[in-house]
Amino acid sequence: MTSASSSPKKAVKKTAEKTTSRNAPTPKTAGIQFSAKVIDPVKYATQCLVVGVYEGLKLSPAASSVDAADAHQLIALLKREGFQGKAGQSLLLLNPQGIAADRLLVLGFGSQKDGSVSVDNFRRVVQKISESLKPTPCTEITVALDDVSVTGQEADWQARQIAESLGQLEYRADHLKSKPAEISLQLKKVQVGTTKNLIAKATKGLALGLAIAQGINLTRKLGDLPGNICTPTYLAEQAKQLAKDRAKLNVNVLEEKQMKELGMGSFLSVAAGSEQPAKLIVLEYKGGNKKDAPVALVGKGITFDTGGISLKPGPAMDEMKYDMCGAASVLGTFRTLVELQLPINVVGVIATTENMPSGAATKPGDIVTSMSGLTIEILNTDAEGRLVLCDALTYTERFKPKAVVDIATLTGACVIALGNHATGLFSNDDDLAKSLLKAGEESADRAWQMPLWDEYQKQLDSNFADIANIGGREAGSVTAACFLSRFTKKFAWAHLDIAGTAWRSGGAKGATGRPVPLLVQYLLNQA
Ligand code: BES
Ligand code: MN
Ligand code: ZN
Repeated sequence: MTSASSSPKKAVKKTAEKTTSRNAPTPKTAGIQFSAKVIDPVKYATQCLVVGVYEGLKLSPAASSVDAADAHQLIALLKREGFQGKAGQSLLLLNPQGIAADRLLVLGFGSQKDGSVSVDNFRRVVQKISESLKPTPCTEITVALDDVSVTGQEADWQARQIAESLGQLEYRADHLKSKPAEISLQLKKVQVGTTKNLIAKATKGLALGLAIAQGINLTRKLGDLPGNICTPTYLAEQAKQLAKDRAKLNVNVLEEKQMKELGMGSFLSVAAGSEQPAKLIVLEYKGGNKKDAPVALVGKGITFDTGGISLKPGPAMDEMKYDMCGAASVLGTFRTLVELQLPINVVGVIATTENMPSGAATKPGDIVTSMSGLTIEILNTDAEGRLVLCDALTYTERFKPKAVVDIATLTGACVIALGNHATGLFSNDDDLAKSLLKAGEESADRAWQMPLWDEYQKQLDSNFADIANIGGREAGSVTAACFLSRFTKKFAWAHLDIAGTAWRSGGAKGATGRPVPLLVQYLLNQA
């Protein structure tokens, strides 16, 4: 099979590397300082005090003392405005009387069951804080929600939710505009109310929430960056940046030449049409014992997916800058990991390249040899994610991982199946699948398991090679996972198809940072 080599005979000189790295903008890091404090909601001077109210206009203790401080004007006002305390209702009052705060944000938490609100309601309502305060110039706020009890959760969990939500204000999607919006929330300080005996617990929760937010923010930033800035080289630099001054994290970047030596004919066949050099980014976080087998996270990093010679249609093609969100979620998870210093070992492998059409590009019908030795008939060059991932997965074998999770914006079919709510999960190991589903539930970043049955495998039969890279119209996300399963026989493996969950389209276009919360929760549960 000498013809089954992937890279073009005449090596294309890839010169784009140097110019792009210089174009990379330096991200603004605002930095929000979180602290847990014992506060008196009436006397505490703050730009905005946040309190809770339950359905039926039942005031929380903090809201109640605010109401009492002004001859029960708060209750009267809430009634006048039709505020009933339903979950998601919010009312921002300026110059509240009788208290030291400049503003009062009243949040509805819905109904209580045995004196507690649901986990879902609490999460949902906390998101309202940044939404409600967005048009204000507040730089400092005080969140007095510690008296809102949540079913099955404690002070650390509540603090985590607040920091995870508000910490995301550190990322602004408008950093490439020449002038940012004139008035918009730029928080520098957040105080979270607590009691004396819970300060330590709440403080821990804040640190965890902020670390997760920082991971989400990195993932969102990289996702939102356009393809002319966020190139494979840029991603490699970001990984190296992450490892700087962090003893437990090591980063190694493999170049095309090394990938060729490793026999990564499948990965390189995708890179063949691009002027940008492809990179295999390898991250090794060593927080555990030397002998502990690592968890491996493998990310799809197509920094722009045109479809290649099987060119995509024009409408919304700009969104294919998000085709590196799997890679971005690996980097985001490592961002959180180094912040938290978890006592585990984690490996990250990112396969990154553009998928471009050109005279040197791979053509439909071309047959390439993967690192595993399996030959692949490329019937559609737009099914490129699996082509880069299969070699990255084979490479991952060398770490003898206890579990491998790949994360990829792999198929439009997954968006059709699950929409924007759930990440598609496929696995060859039931325990691993269960742990990931649980982590998704716990972090409100849910996945839904899809089948990986043998019956689907034959859709990948090829007349000319060991396997075809597409499996026809039916069950497109399943056959994509089936393709990957051919390369993951040596370890417990799960595949997360994040095509529907990694970013939002339309007016609210932007990266979501998913599935960083799920991945971090999974790692927390391992530690
Ligand atoms: N990156 C796309 C998948 C994608 C498409 C994600 C739209 C989100 C929105 C992937 O590389 C791709 O093009 N997949 C093809 C596979 C097909 C050719 C078998 C698809 O889904 O159409
Ligand atoms: Mn594609
Ligand atoms: Zn793609």
